[in-house]
Amino acid sequence: MEFSFDINQVLPFEITILNGDYRVLNPGQSVRILAPEKLTSIINAMGEASYKAQGLYGPITTARKLRVSDHRLYIVKKPDDNNNKGSVVGILKVGPKHLYIYDTNGQVYERTPLCILDFYVHESKQRLGFGKNLFDTMLNYEKCAPYELPVDRPSNKCLAFLHKHYHLSSPIHQVNNFVVYQAFFNQSLDINTKEKTSSTRKHNQDSTSLLIPSQKHELERNQQLKTNIDEKRLPISHYSTSYNRHFNQNHLNTSSTIKSQISSSSSSSTWRIFGIPQLHNQNF
Ligand code: ACO
Repeated sequence: MEFSFDINQVLPFEITILNGDYRVLNPGQSVRILAPEKLTSIINAMGEASYKAQGLYGPITTARKLRVSDHRLYIVKKPDDNNNKGSVVGILKVGPKHLYIYDTNGQVYERTPLCILDFYVHESKQRLGFGKNLFDTMLNYEKCAPYELPVDRPSNKCLAFLHKHYHLSSPIHQVNNFVVYQAFFNQSLDINTKEKTSSTRKHNQDSTSLLIPSQKHELERNQQLKTNIDEKRLPISHYSTSYNRHFNQNHLNTSSTIKSQISSSSSSSTWRIFGIPQLHNQNF
């Protein structure tokens, strides 16, 4: 999609990662958005093209919605299009959603996973690998696997995309219009706990410099408790999701914020599993 202005002066990277504050999140970069009003028109135009392409009633992505959300938006551009003014090729939006998700046995899981919320590549650039590039960049930044991410109302193109590139087949459609795959339910604590515990630990260590001694003590106790729980593989409700790391980084401004995040970290990413009475299973 072409614009009257120079895209390359608005979007600093081939794939620019943004949050609702229009902060550029690309790792290792400290770049500012210099023309926020132009970025707003890019987001609105791409959001509009996306919902039309998907046959929806209204946009999933607008600048206004992004600004009040904890979502992250990935925007891919083609810098040499339009006489080197660049064109905007696609968007991918992700964010946490509190969901009740059923497996194929009718068991329901209450979870707050990172989700694929909006995904669009301009018609003139589809099937050229831009979608894959966007998706891989997102997986890398969010540190997650494709099967971990429920997809909101995936189109057939999106399902074909996930099958082709990530071998995800037999989608499990949910009443809330999300789709997950079987591997979503197979996420093993054995595989994930160590890595995620260590990333949480690193995050907490980075944060301790902002804490007073009593807060540090409480944090250490909290970490020890969490380690004990993880290593004994006791309550699954203490499992921490990978996206929280980035989510938390955006809010690491005051020690009180840190404290409340630490104490609430096990609830925001909680897994709760409910057994469904047999009768309900049969009805579902
Ligand atoms: N028909 C069927 N499959 C398609 C199509 C299509 N028109 N376009 C892409 N795909 C799938 C195929 O598996 C294709 O592989 P193939 O060409 O060998 O058949 C693969 O995607 C191509 O991969 P990429 O080139 O990396 O993907 P692309 O850049 O086209 O982006 C996307 C994929 C985002 C789904 C794009 O096709 C698109 O924007 N479609 C219209 C809007 C849409 O459906 N968005 C997803 C909605 S779901 C959501 O937003 C959460």
